[in-house]
Amino acid sequence: MNLRRFTERDVRGKNVFVRVDFNVPLKDGKVSDSTRIAAHADTVSMLLGWGAKVVLASHLGRPKGKRIPEMSLKCTLSEAEKIFNARVNFCGDCIGTSVMAAVEDLKEGELLLLENLRFHEEEQKNDPDFARKLAEPFDVFVMDAFSASHRADASTSAIMEILPSFAGSLLQKEVEMLSTVSEDPERPFVLILGGAKVSDKIGVVEHLMEKTTSILIGGGMAFTFLKANGASIGRSLFEEEKKDFALQMMDQARRNGVEILLPVDVVSGTSLDMTSGELIVAADAIPDDAMGLDIGPKTVALFAERIADAKTVLWNGPMGVFENALFAAGTKGIADGVAESTRRGGVTVVGGGDTAAAAKALGFDKSVSHVSTGGGASLEFCEGKALPGIVPLIEK
Ligand code: 3PG
Ligand code: MG
Repeated sequence: MNLRRFTERDVRGKNVFVRVDFNVPLKDGKVSDSTRIAAHADTVSMLLGWGAKVVLASHLGRPKGKRIPEMSLKCTLSEAEKIFNARVNFCGDCIGTSVMAAVEDLKEGELLLLENLRFHEEEQKNDPDFARKLAEPFDVFVMDAFSASHRADASTSAIMEILPSFAGSLLQKEVEMLSTVSEDPERPFVLILGGAKVSDKIGVVEHLMEKTTSILIGGGMAFTFLKANGASIGRSLFEEEKKDFALQMMDQARRNGVEILLPVDVVSGTSLDMTSGELIVAADAIPDDAMGLDIGPKTVALFAERIADAKTVLWNGPMGVFENALFAAGTKGIADGVAESTRRGGVTVVGGGDTAAAAKALGFDKSVSHVSTGGGASLEFCEGKALPGIVPLIEK
């Protein structure tokens, strides 16, 4: 999939509206993880280097058309200045005369950040009039917000019908990496699934099953599969209504010659935030009063061996409650396997959301080929869906 890219001629001396995703986690009003901001550095430096007037626009949270002070993008300014190594001016709105004036005032080498797009309810309605207002001071649109590309909003969709539009470097890289693993993966292709819910992963399994060599299932979602096979899972997560899907999936895998591996042992406990007393038990014999909160060491060894041999790995969903050190070893152990595959030349991609948070928290973000900035967007991309923020940029 090739996306339309800009050249120096497209942007030199032009007013460029860049849709970024600064929807970052906050703690006490401060950015607690700036990964998403840093991910736009290449696009920003390329545009500044080519003498464009660069204006950044994003959403933050879900203010639903209201001006909520805690969701002002102002709190991202100092991080953005550090990361982009440039002065970042701020405009208290994203449309109207104040934006016009701020763009006019912008000096060479400086950036301008606009206020939260979602302070206007028209943004999420993909309203064409609002898109026209957004576009008014600009000559060119650059879409770099991969993680918002599954949203058909005015700044990710309608605006592309108004301005000449191009993909930024982050969007390009995300699409390249996620296409490599989901469209034409080199085999062995190992799909690692975890996280709490089976329902989140159904689309990915349906789209990728036939391309995979092995599917490894851990995290809370594994217990629905284990119970469907007759295991005693105690108080572990169980999605009754997904039991049939689990059975069908295991049956389809058998017919397609795809190996499905479930945990053979788990680290069990009585609560997510317990500080001691965890117990390693067989995955099919979890005591009635306990629940599985991580995959156990035998499972880690079994999974890691498959992963290390893989030429392609796609990982979505942590193996356990990694936020608690008692239940982080499974996710860490799988990360080691993924790192080994990367060292041996495999292409390894970690889907965004919780898995990206785990990669950062446990420090394996640098030992994989790519960590996606998108949660929902990376899942939908791997489900083979046409994403509204990407489709208009695809070169025929
Ligand atoms: C995300 O964090 O998933 C993106 O920024 C999109 O945000 P949304 O889920 O609120 O649309
Ligand atoms: Mg989301």
